[in-house]
Amino acid sequence: MTDQQLRPDGSLRHLLTLEGLPRAALDALLERAARLRPLALGDGLRDALRGRTVVTLFFEPSTRTRSSFQLAAARLGADVLNFDAAHSSTRKGEGLIDTLRNLEAMGAELFVLRHAESGALAELAQHAAPGTSVLNAGDGRNAHPTQGLLDMLTIRQHKGEDFSPLTVAIVGDVKHSRVARSDLHALRTLGAGEIRVAAPPSLLPEARELAGTRVCADLDEALRDADVVMMLRLQRERMEEGLVSSLDDYHRDWGLTRARLAGARHDAIVMHPGPMNRGVEIDDEVADGPQSVILQQVSNGVAVRMAALLALSGHREG
Ligand code: NCD
Repeated sequence: MTDQQLRPDGSLRHLLTLEGLPRAALDALLERAARLRPLALGDGLRDALRGRTVVTLFFEPSTRTRSSFQLAAARLGADVLNFDAAHSSTRKGEGLIDTLRNLEAMGAELFVLRHAESGALAELAQHAAPGTSVLNAGDGRNAHPTQGLLDMLTIRQHKGEDFSPLTVAIVGDVKHSRVARSDLHALRTLGAGEIRVAAPPSLLPEARELAGTRVCADLDEALRDADVVMMLRLQRERMEEGLVSSLDDYHRDWGLTRARLAGARHDAIVMHPGPMNRGVEIDDEVADGPQSVILQQVSNGVAVRMAALLALSGHREG
C-alpha cells in the first residue's frame, strides 16, 4: 500500500492511508500543515496551485471534509470542480474508472474521493494516469488519512511534538470507524505512550487491529488520567441491527459526560471528528465545554488538506 502511495524518489504521489506511511512523510505533512495554519483561514496561498484542477467526488455525505477540501483547494488558487455524484452518469452505471478517465481527459489532476467501499480508492489509484494523484477523503471503514492528520496536528498544538508521554483514549464505535483506524496508524507511527481503546464488545474491531493498544472494559478505565480523549460517532448507517441495545443504554455506559471527564487529566483535550450525536456519545456541556477542541480540529482540517494537496502536486514551499 505504502509503495503505491510513494513515487520512486520517496515523494508522495497518492494519499490513501496512514498505514505504513513512513514517519518522515507523516512529520513532513504535519509540519507543512502547521506552517500553513495561519494562512489557511485567511489569505491562503493563491498562486500555489494556479492552473491546476482539483476534483472532489463524494459518493457519501460529508459536511466538514468536503467543504474543507474545497476551501483548501480554492485558497491554493486551484480550479475546483465539485463533481455532483448524485446527478452524474455514475447513476447510470458508469464505473469509477471511466469517470476518472473522463475527468483526466478534461485536464483534472488531483482527485479527492469519498466512497462507501473500503479499498475502492486504492483500486482506483492503480488506474490513474501518471500525472494523476488520488486523495482519500474516507473509504468505507478503511481509512480517512486527512482526518488522522488533522487529529495529530490538533494533539501537537496542545501537547507538543513528543507523543511518547501521552495517554490517548479512543472511545466508541471503533469497529465502523475509518477515523479510528487512521488515528491508530498515526498514533503508533508517532510513538504515543499508551493508546487505549474502549467500546462495547460488539463495536470493537478484530483483535489484530488492536495490536499495541490497551483495550479497556469500561469508559472510566479508559479515561483515567488520559491526556487526549477521542470520541467517535455511533455509526448507525453502518451498523447491522442489534449491536447496541438502545441509545439510552449506550449513553449510560459510553457517553462522555462532564462528571466522567473529571477522571481524565485536568488538562485533557476532548476531540470528536463530527458529526456528533449529541446526548448519545457526548453531552453538550462537554462538546461545547472548555476542554473541547472539536472546532479547532475543523479549522486544522483546512490547513491539513492544503498541505496534502501541495505535497501531492509536488509543490515545494508552503
Ligand atoms: C467522519 C467520516 O465521515 O468518516 N466524519 C468526518 O469526516 N469528519 C466520521 C463519521 O462519520 O463518524
